[in-house]
Amino acid sequence: MKNVTLTLKCEGEMDCPKEIVMWNYYDHEHLVGTHYKYYNQARVLAEKDSWALVYRKMKMPLLPFHCSGIALQLMENNVMKTFHKDSIGFLLEMEVHFKDLPNNRSHMTVIYNINTHPFFKVFQSMFQKLFQGWFHATWVEDAPMRLRRWKVHNLGFKDFYGIDYINKKLPKPGKIEVKKYEFNPPIKSFSAINTKDGLERPFDESVELGYRD
Ligand SMILES: [Fe+2]
Repeated sequence: MKNVTLTLKCEGEMDCPKEIVMWNYYDHEHLVGTHYKYYNQARVLAEKDSWALVYRKMKMPLLPFHCSGIALQLMENNVMKTFHKDSIGFLLEMEVHFKDLPNNRSHMTVIYNINTHPFFKVFQSMFQKLFQGWFHATWVEDAPMRLRRWKVHNLGFKDFYGIDYINKKLPKPGKIEVKKYEFNPPIKSFSAINTKDGLERPFDESVELGYRD
């Protein structure tokens, strides 16, 4: 019998350049922070350029149990591909297509596919409901983080350095020269996420994380 493909396409727009959203997908630490409701653990097993092999333990909405899995993610031009093998045995193939829009905005198309035994065809609508819920829940949590990243970039923020005029206790300059945001994976990190211990979520309850203005 021929396999079937369970599939779903979701779309969203952001008020920031697509490179900021790419950075967000490669900031593996935010899984257990920003998405602490869903992710319990994350560990980067290996990474080079845009290739990252990541272990994740998570709880998806609607599913009554935790699952874990290994995912390989990589960039091919303006498409991020992720191959996620979960502990149940499914291989989830995800693509994120990034597109620029005018005025430093961006459009993302996310496609989820699971190629599996024809028996699972009856679960197509459940698959779509599950991943639609997942896309929406994580998008809503990611959006403030992306906007904040874009906002501080426009103030001259640099990773592990901060904002120059604030560090030097100077008044805010009238005009700040803003360079294009460069996305250069892998994203540097000083946390344990690249070690054998990985990162556990630091809390299981929080009013909200600090991504507000
Ligand atoms: Fe995220």
